[in-house]
Amino acid sequence: MAATDAQPTSERPRPKAPRRLGLSGKLLLLTIPLVMIAGILIYVPAIANFWMNRLNDRLAAANTAALVLDAAPLGMVPDSLSRQILTSIGARAVAIKMGQQRRLLASADLPPAIDHDIDIRNMTVWSAITGSFEMMLESGNQAIRVIGPAPGGAQFIETVIDELPLRQAMYRFSRNLLLISLGIAVLTAALVYLALHFLFVRPMRRLTANLAGFHEDPENSARIIVPSQRGDEIGVAERELSDMQRDLVSMLHQKSRLAALGLAVSKINHDLRNLLASSQLLSDQLASVPDPRVQRFAPKLMRSLERAIAFCQSTLSYGRAQEAAPDRRMIPIEPVVSEVRETAGLASDASIGWINAIERGLTVDADPDQLFRVLLNLVRNAAQALEGRPRSDAASMQIRITGRREGAVAILEVSDTGPGVPAKAREHLFEAFQTSSRPGGSGLGLAIAAELVRAHGGDIHLVEGTIGATFRIVIPDRPVELLTIRNERQRA
Ligand SMILES: Nc1ncnc2c1ncn2[C@@H]1O[C@H](COP(=O)(O)OP(=O)(O)OP(=O)(O)O)[C@@H](O)[C@H]1O
Ligand SMILES: [Mg+2]
Repeated sequence: MAATDAQPTSERPRPKAPRRLGLSGKLLLLTIPLVMIAGILIYVPAIANFWMNRLNDRLAAANTAALVLDAAPLGMVPDSLSRQILTSIGARAVAIKMGQQRRLLASADLPPAIDHDIDIRNMTVWSAITGSFEMMLESGNQAIRVIGPAPGGAQFIETVIDELPLRQAMYRFSRNLLLISLGIAVLTAALVYLALHFLFVRPMRRLTANLAGFHEDPENSARIIVPSQRGDEIGVAERELSDMQRDLVSMLHQKSRLAALGLAVSKINHDLRNLLASSQLLSDQLASVPDPRVQRFAPKLMRSLERAIAFCQSTLSYGRAQEAAPDRRMIPIEPVVSEVRETAGLASDASIGWINAIERGLTVDADPDQLFRVLLNLVRNAAQALEGRPRSDAASMQIRITGRREGAVAILEVSDTGPGVPAKAREHLFEAFQTSSRPGGSGLGLAIAAELVRAHGGDIHLVEGTIGATFRIVIPDRPVELLTIRNERQRA
């Protein structure tokens, strides 16, 4: 078995282009949004976490500052120092609540109003997420109070901070995270794409290319796929496909051999039956010979001929065979016509008149055997058409054969004075098994005649508007090569 892979690249069939996106395109389109969704899922908790951490950092710094401020003797800290401490921790005020007392430890440039409070003592995941996003969506610089647990015996500590620096830090964090996740997304998409491409898309393409190639030429065993060694579903599909293609190829070979055989048998049968029918006519005459030995054998001979004809008849339904190419040469038509008359049993049949109107010395460029079969079929049809006529018409029962030449074309006509071709039979007159309106007829005679005439580059048709039926055959001579003529002249 030849391998698909062994085919030269130029001969390998191209798979039909997918109607819209191929597998690779779909994969790429799918990987990018999936990786982006993964990025978003990572970003939302990350930014909330960043926000919480920043707030905790501020509270831790405020705690340290509170310890320092609280440790001052009598709680008195110079204004310049408390300002310095507040600047270093990025806060505007720090206060602490101990028992019932709420103490402002330090303050500098306090805004007239606090815009909102953030209490991180009872912060949930959800409120961290919404809080962080709210802050990012706000604009301008607002003052916020952050409240958190305080060390030691204090109830809580609070610090007032500016929102803007925190928001800008969140923007920076988001931008960095976005760039990193974009990088990861591109890298992951590329890796996933490549992995899927090599694992699935390429083997799938190989399968589709093989299917398309096999479809084009299913009888060619070189188009059977060579399964790879894969153990997965694609490997199984390849092995199954290979087995199926092998079965199909051998089935098709077997079928075409049988079809050819059937067609050949059918054609042989058709002409054999005609020949046997002629022998039957002869044996009919044999029966009238008074010799007792002939009298004894003649009925047996007739019975076996009848059986042979019936056998041929029953096997005629096997279709048409491919005719061999005609072996053409210039032949005189007269002897062929006489043989046809004889074979059709018309030479000895006085009830049917035979008119030979062939130009003297007419030659036809044809295969004599095939031309004989064409004419025999036409003459036999004519005789059969006349058989059905009432005996009173005997005088007008005629078959006429005419032949003439018009330049490089020979024209032969077979006409009879019968009832003419029935309208129903005219529609598919030259198609096999289509038109027989005669009991015992198979409808092959004219189809075979037409096939043989066409193989000569000629034409056969029913001439309209005549009494009875007239079939005209036109056979052109083969074109003569100018070179051959010149060579022949030179030789002469
Ligand atoms: N000369 C004719 N006169 C009247 N009808 C004809 C004539 N020749 C052919 N036909 C009609 O055309 C049909 C087809 O002819 P064809 O020779 O193809 O088949 P067949 O004679 O029925 O069978 P087969 O020749 O295979 O034994 C005939 O059955 C007949 O009805
Ligand atoms: Mg016939």
